[in-house]
Amino acid sequence: MKNKQIILVKKPEGMIDESHFAAVFTDVPAPKDGEVLVKNRYVSIDPYLRLLTEEPATFSRGVQVGSRMESWSVGEVLESKSDAFKPGQFVVGYLGWQEYGLAEARDLRRIDPSLAPLPAFLGVLGMPGITAYFGIFRYGKPQAGQTVLISAASGTVGMTAGQLAKMHSCRVIGIAETEEKCHYLVEELHFDRAINLSQRSLIEGLKEDAPEGIDLYYDNVGGETLDNALLFLRKNSRVVICGMISQYNVKTPYALKNFDRLHSARATLKGFIVADLMSQWPEAISKLERWVKEKKLKHKENIFHGLENAPKALHSIFTAAPIGKTVVEV
Ligand SMILES: NC(=O)c1ccc[n+]([C@@H]2O[C@H](COP(=O)([O-])OP(=O)(O)OC[C@H]3O[C@@H](n4cnc5c(N)ncnc54)[C@H](OP(=O)(O)O)[C@@H]3O)[C@@H](O)[C@H]2O)c1
Repeated sequence: MKNKQIILVKKPEGMIDESHFAAVFTDVPAPKDGEVLVKNRYVSIDPYLRLLTEEPATFSRGVQVGSRMESWSVGEVLESKSDAFKPGQFVVGYLGWQEYGLAEARDLRRIDPSLAPLPAFLGVLGMPGITAYFGIFRYGKPQAGQTVLISAASGTVGMTAGQLAKMHSCRVIGIAETEEKCHYLVEELHFDRAINLSQRSLIEGLKEDAPEGIDLYYDNVGGETLDNALLFLRKNSRVVICGMISQYNVKTPYALKNFDRLHSARATLKGFIVADLMSQWPEAISKLERWVKEKKLKHKENIFHGLENAPKALHSIFTAAPIGKTVVEV
């Protein structure tokens, strides 16, 4: 039995694509005491993977040339040398782009596949959903009746964050790039408004849809969208910097022009990385699972087939992102 893996073969300068990766085959590892061998069923495709390839790495555990790509995955226990897991159980772990992964039992989370389709445990019930939970409630602190603006609103974090803000009786405006995405946000997820950037600028859209301004901007994209959103901050508003996807593949970062708006609006700006809150993830997971079960929280997944298509799937979320969570079926 061989283990197919996807490794990084060169560091990207600009847009990441298939040319930066290759498939290799290694031996399937055998678990030692306390370890579990998992057969990956789905690997996660997330924007931060691009940051792992930066030189120097933006995160401490970057991916070097010749190394296997890191990622979250969901899989089935094949062999266990731990009392905590049995073969046949489903788990989430940080096992990377490969067919078989080895992990310490304490680094795996057992999941209940009757709750949702397996890919959802990498999206709304995984790291991106947890990010939206803490980003909205811990840092965004929305109050009922307030106006919340969310960028990349049809992505996993954005669509979850928007629904959480709606559950909190806020007025939610999403930003997306196509009519189909805006239709989905309003008709399926009950956002109050959606601004289609291919039809009107953010400034035009907010003049029409938020003439009184915004109380919370949940930023997933950075760049010009963040800059323009700053112009609409109300007094005592908050800006949560969750991500900057528009900047991950560019060589020259966008320079903000409207930073002074934070001062005049007495606004607070908070950046965060969800990995720093890992000890508190169980709190978020139990709430997200309950809301999904009660059908209060909707989710959507897009599946690429075949591990060898993981690089193509990663390229797609920066160029023609579908609605919702992108995963690769191994
Ligand atoms: N702080 C944390 O710990 C944390 C954790 C998870 C995610 N994040 C961040 O949250 C953001 C969203 O992640 P996600 O998991 O929701 O991603 P996702 O499900 O893969 O969706 C990607 C989204 O980004 C948008 N997008 C892609 N390229 C863009 C560009 N150049 N400019 C503007 N929008 C672009 C896409 O929509 P359109 O094509 O319609 O624009 C799509 O909605 C990312 O910035 C990510 O890094 C942060």
